[in-house]
Amino acid sequence: MSLPRFLAVVVAAGSGERMGAGVPKQYLPLAGRTVLEHALQPLLDHPQLERLVVVLAADDTRFAATAAARSARVVTAVGGRTRAESVAAGLAELADAEADTPVLVHDGARPCLGRGDIDRLLAAFGPHGALLALPVRDTLKRAHADPPGVTATVDRADLWQALTPQAFPLGPLRTAIAAYGVDVTDESQAMERAGYAPVLVAAEAANLKVTHPGDVELAELILTRVRGRGAQ
Ligand code: CTP
Ligand code: MG
Repeated sequence: MSLPRFLAVVVAAGSGERMGAGVPKQYLPLAGRTVLEHALQPLLDHPQLERLVVVLAADDTRFAATAAARSARVVTAVGGRTRAESVAAGLAELADAEADTPVLVHDGARPCLGRGDIDRLLAAFGPHGALLALPVRDTLKRAHADPPGVTATVDRADLWQALTPQAFPLGPLRTAIAAYGVDVTDESQAMERAGYAPVLVAAEAANLKVTHPGDVELAELILTRVRGRGAQ
């Protein structure tokens, strides 16, 4: 029996305001390539990947020059004003696929995803979907602003940080994003609102999202020292 195939949507239509780098953060140089190319690589390397949609900003001129753009399994879509709109645009490109096919939605700003995490996510996949997540490890404080100060300590015992990829059946995910997607910051939230109970899959802490200046150096260390993916 052949292993089940999966689809993927990688969102890379953001402007990277918090990074403030002059170029969108998904195009910052990292270990000889760009952040986005590293985010795509473990998905493109996976033998069960059938098709991958990269969602780009309307004025993107950089993706077409990358090797990934020439892959027969890669198509592109134009993103929207919010991450949820960009995900919806990516899903629209997969309209002809079977409704129960797993679709992995991944941030183009997460360049350090490992093969093990993809395989654990696929193994946990079911009708309610599954997502990579990290149990919160530090003590959490609720704060007031200007200047920041503690107002309370929050019990972390049942708190997880949601990462990507997140894997959901294509049809239900498309319906949930259309119905509840306006203000969600991940796919799980749309599915939860639609009544699903996604499974949490403990992820590697290495799967960070490049968000602020300094994160790129950390990602470079992980790619070169942990993943062995140096400049190529
Ligand atoms: N994203 C997208 N379309 C948007 C907003 C975000 O495709 N309208 C993508 C980003 O490109 C990124 C991922 O969603 O790969 C996670 O979002 P985030 O880290 O918030 O990236 P940005 O929105 O680009 O960064 P910032 O919020 O700092 O502006
Ligand atoms: Mg954002």
